[in-house]
Amino acid sequence: MNREMVIVLDFGGQYNQLIARRVRECNVYCEIYSYKTDFEKIKALNPRGIIFTGGPNSCYEEGAPAYTKEIFELGIPVLGICYGSQLMMHLLGGKVEKAPVREYGKIEVTVDCASPLFENVSETTICWMSHNDYISAAAPGFRATAHTPDCPFAALENAEKKLYATQFHPEVLHTQEGQKMLSNFVRKICGCAGDWRMDSFVEESIRSIREKVGDGKVLCALSGGVDSSVAAVMLAKAVGDQLTCVFVDHGLLRKNEGDEVEAVFGPDGPYDLHFIRVNAQKRFYEKLRGVEDPEKKRKIIGEEFIRVFEDEAKKIGAVDFFVQGTIYPDVVESGDGGESTTIKSHHNVGGLPEHVDFKEIIEPLRNLFKDEVRKAGLELGIPDYLVFRQPFPGPGLGIRIVGEITAEKVAMVQDADAIWREEIAKAGWDTKVNQYFAALTNMRSVGVMGDERTYDYAIALRAVTTTDFMTAESAHIPWEVIEKTTSRIVNEVKHVNRVLYDCTGKPPATIEFE
Ligand code: XMP
Repeated sequence: MNREMVIVLDFGGQYNQLIARRVRECNVYCEIYSYKTDFEKIKALNPRGIIFTGGPNSCYEEGAPAYTKEIFELGIPVLGICYGSQLMMHLLGGKVEKAPVREYGKIEVTVDCASPLFENVSETTICWMSHNDYISAAAPGFRATAHTPDCPFAALENAEKKLYATQFHPEVLHTQEGQKMLSNFVRKICGCAGDWRMDSFVEESIRSIREKVGDGKVLCALSGGVDSSVAAVMLAKAVGDQLTCVFVDHGLLRKNEGDEVEAVFGPDGPYDLHFIRVNAQKRFYEKLRGVEDPEKKRKIIGEEFIRVFEDEAKKIGAVDFFVQGTIYPDVVESGDGGESTTIKSHHNVGGLPEHVDFKEIIEPLRNLFKDEVRKAGLELGIPDYLVFRQPFPGPGLGIRIVGEITAEKVAMVQDADAIWREEIAKAGWDTKVNQYFAALTNMRSVGVMGDERTYDYAIALRAVTTTDFMTAESAHIPWEVIEKTTSRIVNEVKHVNRVLYDCTGKPPATIEFE
C-alpha cells in the first residue's frame, strides 16, 4: 500500500508504543520496528520519517543497541528521543558520557532558538526527562536548540540534514507541549499530509477483505469483547452471509452479556450473517465442579472453550478464512513488531486456530491500537455499550469467584456486578476508572437480617485506575457510591450479607482475584 508512514525504530524503551500512538494521533500512520531490522527492509518501507526511541542502555558500551549510520544519509528526517538522541550523536561524532547530574521527572526546558521542531512551543516548557547519560558534545553540523540547568543539549538539530534530537520524551503526557513537537516533526519536518483516518481505513479494509475473500467461506469466533466484535462487523459488512460467527456462552459472562451480543449479531440484528450461539453453560459448570485451584480453573475454561468451538467448527466443515481480532499491541508484545520481548500472558482463546480447518487467517485490526479499534467500531455503527466495553478476561467470572464455581455463585456475582456497574455509571465514575467489577469472595460470615442470624457470602467491589494494566491503583470512589451499592447488594442479592471494598493496588495484588 502506498500510504505515508513514519517508522519508530525500537531500542528497547518503555514508551515505544506510546510514540507510535502519538504519531497516529497526528493522523499519520506509524509502525514499530526493532533496531535489529535490516537496513534494506527499512529503506524498502519508504518511510517519510524515522523516530529512534529511548532505551535502557549506554550507547558507548560494547554490545549496546545501535544502527548503521547510513540511515542518516537517506535524506529522510530522523528524530532521536532520549537514548535515540544519544545514539545519533554517538554515531555522528558527538560525545555521550555519564551525566554529572541525573535528570528524572518533570524538568523545565528552555528553547534557545527558532527550530521547526519547536514551532508554536513556549520558550520555557515542562518536559519529561529520564536519563543517566547525557550528550556532552554535539556532533559536527549540529547545534543545541534547547537546554536545562543540568543538560546543555536538551535538544539538537542539523536542519540541513533534517536530523533532530531531544533528550526528553515528547511522547509522554508529562511533556506539556510534546504532542505539538511530534506534530511539528511528522507534519512540518517530514511533510506528511496526515491522511490516516478511521473512516478511510474502514472503507479501505472492507474493500480489500471483499477482494480477498471472493466467494469464500469465513468463520469468526466471537467473544463479545471489543476486538472480536469490531472484526466481526467489518467482515459482516464486507461479505455478509458468507460469514459465520460462533459465540460460545460459557456461563461466565456478565449479566445479560450473552443477550447483548446476540442482539447485535443474531437474527434480529442489523447484519445478514450466520450467527451461532452455543449455550454451553452446563458443560462448563460440570467440568468445573469441585475445582478450587485458580490455575486449574483457567486451564479447564480455556480447554473447554476450544472443545466447544471445535465441535461447532466440525459441524460447519472446512472454511476458507478464519477471522481473528488480533490488534497491534498483541503483535508488538508477541515480538513481531518492536524490540519488546514480553509474550502476552493473558489469552482469550489460546491456540484456537490449530483446531479449526481453514486455509488462511484474516486479522483486519492487526495494525490498530485499542483506541483506534474503538473508533473503527463507531465508524461501523456498533453500539456504544459494545465499543466502550471495559476489558473482560477470557475466563470471565470464573476468576471473579474465589474457589469453586457453581451456577448459584455465578448468579450472585452477576447481580452484584450489575448493581455496581449501574451505580458507578450513574455517579459518572465509569469514565474515570479503567476497570471495575464485583467479585465473590469465598468467605462466609455471620450477619443479622431482620431478627434472623445469617451466615452468608461477602462480595468484594473493585475499581482501579491504570494506564497499562501492568500496575494499577485502587480508585477513590466516593463513599456515597460505595454505600448505595452496598445497601442495594445486600438487599437485592440473595445470600450476600457483607460487602467489602478492595483498597489494594497492583502490585501487590492483581486486578482480578485469581
Ligand atoms: P491482572 O489480574 O493480571 O489483570 O492484574 C490484568 C488485566 O488483564 C485482564 N485479564 C485477562 N484478560 N484473559 C484475558 O483476556 C485472561 O485470562 C485474563 N486475566 C486477566 C484483567 O481483566 C485486567 O484487565
